[in-house]
Amino acid sequence: MNLILLGPPGAGKGTQAKRLEARFGIVQISTGDMLRAEVAVGSEVGLLARAVMEAGQLVSDDILIRMLGNRIARPDCVPGFILDGFPRTVPQAVALDRLLAERGLRLDAVIEMRVDAPALVERIAGRFTCAKCGAGYHDTFKRPKVEGVCDICGSRDFVRRADDNRETVQARLDAYARQTAPILPHYAAQGLLHQVDGMADIDAVTAEIVAVLDGLAATRAA
Ligand code: AP5
Ligand code: MG
Ligand code: ZN
Repeated sequence: MNLILLGPPGAGKGTQAKRLEARFGIVQISTGDMLRAEVAVGSEVGLLARAVMEAGQLVSDDILIRMLGNRIARPDCVPGFILDGFPRTVPQAVALDRLLAERGLRLDAVIEMRVDAPALVERIAGRFTCAKCGAGYHDTFKRPKVEGVCDICGSRDFVRRADDNRETVQARLDAYARQTAPILPHYAAQGLLHQVDGMADIDAVTAEIVAVLDGLAATRAA
């Protein structure tokens, strides 16, 4: 099964992708995580991407399309993948169609997660992750069970993203509205687009996405 999770910054793409990964045995491909890894090692791509990401703008289509093409060719993608953060522009969506067609693959669904702008800012400003295992937390919505200790791995080191501040969030929301939202009609026209209420709590959102995917599987089996 090959999916796209689409939604503005803070919509919960990463949170839900991790859960779908575990449930369906398919791999999360987060282009934001891939870019942050490039920045961390100071690669050529990382050097190009760093300032752009910190300003809340989009890294160039050329870089992202090349990165994604290499990633989906890896063997762990054979059972399927969840794209989190790609495509983000119309040229990226068109390139993805071509990359999939070249490999004889297709998308099963594009899930649009809808969340109000004020809630997005709240979510992003409160977000932090475990430095060791990457588990995601939030100052208000998802604190570790034991204060200061990761639920998953027990680490006491947490990090916040360089672009998670109130100023940069606005630029990221603008980039979504201007450059990413225009890809929705591309997928609606292919009959792939499904909307879920991203304002609901995390478990309820997972349940809604799973219901959409189970519905597709049932239709296909019939
Ligand atoms: P990227 O890493 O993709 O960031 P983003 O799209 O801004 O999205 P986020 O990761 O901030 O949010 P999310 O939807 O994953 O939400 P999360 O689950 O963490 O991209 C970063 C940058 O990289 C871009 O700005 C760009 O510069 C560059 N880039 C990446 N891909 C690119 C591309 N294809 N082309 C060009 N440039 C690219 O949840 C957020 C918080 O809310 C968490 O704390 C979570 O615990 C909490 N939360 C989640 N769900 C709920 C809920 N239902 N209720 C309450 N709280 C919730
Ligand atoms: Mg994310
Ligand atoms: Zn951890």
